[in-house]
Amino acid sequence: MNLLEARGVCKHFGGLEAVSEVDFDLPRGEIHAIIGPNGAGKTTFVSLLCGRLGVTAGTIRFDGEDVTGLPAWRRVRQGIAYTFQITSIYPRLSVRQNVAIAADGVHTQGITKQRLREILERVDLAERADEIAGNLAYGHQRLLEVAMGLALDPRLLILDEPTQGLSDAEIARFCDLVRDIARDATVLLIEHNMSVVMELAARITVLDRGRVLASGTPAEIHENADVQAAYLGGGVPA
Ligand SMILES: Nc1ncnc2c1ncn2[C@@H]1O[C@H](COP(=O)(O)OP(=O)(O)O)[C@@H](O)[C@H]1O
Ligand SMILES: [Mg+2]
Repeated sequence: MNLLEARGVCKHFGGLEAVSEVDFDLPRGEIHAIIGPNGAGKTTFVSLLCGRLGVTAGTIRFDGEDVTGLPAWRRVRQGIAYTFQITSIYPRLSVRQNVAIAADGVHTQGITKQRLREILERVDLAERADEIAGNLAYGHQRLLEVAMGLALDPRLLILDEPTQGLSDAEIARFCDLVRDIARDATVLLIEHNMSVVMELAARITVLDRGRVLASGTPAEIHENADVQAAYLGGGVPA
């Protein structure tokens, strides 16, 4: 059964159709990538999934339940976490405090010390738990954002361009982390780095001008002529 299903989803900003008639199925446990040119509607689409924006038309079902009308905070409690929902880190607070604050979104009693430690270990920040978040290197700040997402105990974790600005070594570690997360959650990844997409994603959806241009396995997408035409006038970046 699909964890998430979108049908006929549209989002209009005035006259602009940022997302048009999108149908989207996300099987449980999958790592799925959304790719597409800048302005294609990727961020708008995942904002509709997590409830940061309301749809103009269409329906979104999560775990069999219609969540289309639910506010973001209720979708978080159902297990949909979007890294942008956390906005970003609180730079004057410690790493530990950032994760604890994020967890308040779902744990009304507060997160346990043990759970907090597990999360920080998972993203390799346990040794930096008491550092001030604003003093962390950029790559570590991105990992802290992922930790804040994990603090919400997501069943679906949506990551919007998580590898942007990371070094090659950080990207390789990040890929390992996403695979680890996907052992007990479904991951929806908006990603520009095609080698990350090809390595991680079981399936890919290509958005272009608010519509689904193609969806399929990495191999199918790589061969797809429409996708090649939409990207840089030909040739999916390697
Ligand atoms: N809040 C908004 N108000 C008006 N237009 C918006 C808003 N958010 C996004 N857009 C427009 O919608 C289109 C899709 O944007 P976006 O979803 O951010 O694309 P992507 O994430 O694929 O780069 C763009 O033309 C963008 O300018
Ligand atoms: Mg975007």
